[in-house]
Amino acid sequence: MLKWALQQERNLPWKQTKDPYKIWLSEIILQQTRVEQGMPYYIKFVEHYPTVLHLANASEDQVLKDWEGLGYYTRARNLHQTAKHIAYQLNGVFPSTHQGILALKGVGAYTAAAIASFAFQLPHAVLDGNVFRVLSRFFGIDTPIDSPIGKKIFEQLAQELLDPSQPDVYNQAIMDFGATWCMPKQPNCRSCPMRDHCVAHMTSSVAKYPVKEKKMVKRKRFFHYLMLHSEGQIMLEKRIEKDIWQGLYQFPLIEAPYLMQDTQQILNTDFWKTHFVEVSFKIHSVSKTFKQLLTHQQIFANFWDIHLSHFPQTLREKTLFATKTELNNFAFPKIIDCYFEEKALYLGFNS
Ligand code: ADE
Repeated sequence: MLKWALQQERNLPWKQTKDPYKIWLSEIILQQTRVEQGMPYYIKFVEHYPTVLHLANASEDQVLKDWEGLGYYTRARNLHQTAKHIAYQLNGVFPSTHQGILALKGVGAYTAAAIASFAFQLPHAVLDGNVFRVLSRFFGIDTPIDSPIGKKIFEQLAQELLDPSQPDVYNQAIMDFGATWCMPKQPNCRSCPMRDHCVAHMTSSVAKYPVKEKKMVKRKRFFHYLMLHSEGQIMLEKRIEKDIWQGLYQFPLIEAPYLMQDTQQILNTDFWKTHFVEVSFKIHSVSKTFKQLLTHQQIFANFWDIHLSHFPQTLREKTLFATKTELNNFAFPKIIDCYFEEKALYLGFNS
C-alpha cells in the first residue's frame, strides 16, 4: 500500500498543510463527499475563513451560503458551532489529542482518526467505506460491515495494519487506494500491486465485497413549492424544523403523500384553503418534476408559479420577501437551485 501510494497518490491541497484547522475543514467537507466535488469548497472555505476565528465570527447564513450545493447541511452548522467553541472556549487552540478531537461536534471516529494522524501523527487508523471495501476484499471477510461484530473485526484489523511510525502516510494511502483503485464498481484489479494476495481477486468475487446485512429502504417525499409572486417580489421562508435542509431557505411548501399535478389538488389542500381564500390568484405554470436522491430519502418536487393580488396576511409572520436578484443572497437546497438553473435556461429567470 505504501509503495502504491508513493507512485499513485493524489496531490490534494489539504495534504500540503499540518494546520489542524485546515485538516479538520477538509475532513468535514469530505465526509460522504467525493474529492472532486469537495475540492472547490475546501479552496473557497480556506479563502473566506483562513483561521478558526474567521469562521467563528461569520454568520450562520453566510456559512450555509458558502456550503450551498454540498449537501448534508448539518455538517455546515456543526462546523460553525465547533469553530465558535474552539475560538471562545478553547482559546482558539485546536485540540491535539485523539480524545479532544473526538469530543468536537460533528467529528466521529473516522474523522478523529484522520485529523489525529494527519495533523499530529497519532497512531489511529481510519475506517470508512473505502477502508471497509479494501480490507473486506483483500482478506475475503464476509462478515457484514454493518453488523456490530463486523465493525469490531474491521476496527481491529485496520488498527493492526496501521504503520505507527507513519500513520498519516498509511491512512492517506488506504483512503486514496480505495477511492481511486479499489472502487465499488470496476476496480482496477489489472494493475493492482496487491492482486496476487487479494482473496476477492483470487476467487473472482470482487463484486461480492463488502457484504452488508441490511438493505436500505428510502423514504419517498413529495414537495410542492409555491412560487408566490406579487408586486415584483417572491415569498420565501427559512427551514427551521428538525428535518433535512435545516437553516436553508425555500418557498412556501405543501408536502403531500403523493405528487399533485392538477391545480384542483393544490386548491383542495388545507394549506391553500387556510391562506388563500381572500386572495385572487393566477396559476401560471407548474414545472416538471425534479428529483433529488438523499442518503435515506428520495425527494420529488414540482414548482407552482403563482401570481397573487397580494400576499396573504396569515403567511407573513414566518416569511420574508425578495426580488429575483435578491434570491442570489440566500442558500437553497440543491433541488431548488436546479429549478432556478432550468428556469434561467428557458426564461432568463435570473436576468
Ligand atoms: N476522504 C476523506 N478524507 C480524505 C482525504 N484526506 N483525502 C482524500 N479523500 C478523503
